[in-house]
Amino acid sequence: METKLLTEHYHLPQYRSLDGYKKQGGYKVLEKALKMEPKAIIEEVKASGLRGRGGAGFPTGTKWSFLPNNGEPRYLLCNADEGEPGTFKDRLMMEKAPHQLIEGMIISGWAIGSHKSYIYVRGEYNESIRILREAIKEAYAAGILGESVLGSKFKHDMDVYAGAGAYICGEETGMISSLEGLKGQPKLKPPFPAIQGYLKKPTIVNNVETLAAVVPIVDQGGAAYRKYGTEKSPGTKLFSVSGNVMRPGNYEVPLGTPLKDIIFDLCGGLKPGRTLKAVIPGGSSAPVLTQEEAMRATMDYECLAQMGSMLGSGLTQEIRSPAPLATQYGADRHCYKYQFPE
Ligand SMILES: Cc1cc2nc3c(=O)[nH]c(=O)nc-3n(C[C@H](O)[C@H](O)[C@H](O)COP(=O)(O)O)c2cc1C
Repeated sequence: METKLLTEHYHLPQYRSLDGYKKQGGYKVLEKALKMEPKAIIEEVKASGLRGRGGAGFPTGTKWSFLPNNGEPRYLLCNADEGEPGTFKDRLMMEKAPHQLIEGMIISGWAIGSHKSYIYVRGEYNESIRILREAIKEAYAAGILGESVLGSKFKHDMDVYAGAGAYICGEETGMISSLEGLKGQPKLKPPFPAIQGYLKKPTIVNNVETLAAVVPIVDQGGAAYRKYGTEKSPGTKLFSVSGNVMRPGNYEVPLGTPLKDIIFDLCGGLKPGRTLKAVIPGGSSAPVLTQEEAMRATMDYECLAQMGSMLGSGLTQEIRSPAPLATQYGADRHCYKYQFPE
């Protein structure tokens, strides 16, 4: 059931370094992409059916096509704010495979004609910020970033920006305000960021997982990516599972995987003596599924929407009852234990 398109090498500590990443074929897809026309990359991403992994599930290739051809500089922003309680998949991706994200971002930058990108990282993620900065430094030293990406005519600069711990800065226009040095408050839409975003210039905002997924899509082609998942929700997705399951953690599975398989198979089921009461399937903004709904839900955009919930940022949290009040909100923001009202 686990399908490790993105996470195959995450168990290797050396995968985090440039050398270790290259040993597993890292940056070969960037080499390939630089030989392709930017438009052809956008077409592959469209063909893959990739939908944004940050919450709304908007088709990525379509979003990229909204950029106006007005000769203005374009920005690419990676949304690594990961503020949704219970979600910790972007942190995993940044900490285990920073170069995978950087590669996906440079390819995306080439596709959309952007010479500057920022990774906006949740302020509390000190370790992710440190690892990303180190990886970006390595990429500059190796000529992967900078004036001439891998010796090509394409210039691309990348920077990490540490947020200051505000949930609203995960909303794309709030994030843009924060990046501009303003109070992190959302702006009215329209205009959408693709038309007028960072510094009022055309801007694409994508989630960490979305940008990392561009690597296998360009590598294998959009059609191959569609082999995973469902027709309307293609590809794989990382789900962060917490609560009283035997093996909590992040799991990459094809979209459309039954929720009960994730909980009872991958996660080893519930802890002894526990019964499933309800599940939050997509971040705490997502309406709760009852036990009965959870048992028949499949983890894709359509099924969860039909059930009146949403896939959101990809979180599966088993809710139990009763819990001592003291553990209602754990010390770690990402391991909340909710108490379901009796
Ligand atoms: C209140 C709020 C908080 C959000 N927080 C995040 C977040 O932490 N990370 C994220 O990627 N998207 C978040 N989003 C969604 C972003 O606004 C945006 O849609 C997303 O980054 C686009 O990337 P995608 O197309 O790759 O999903 C949030 C949206 C709202 C309304």
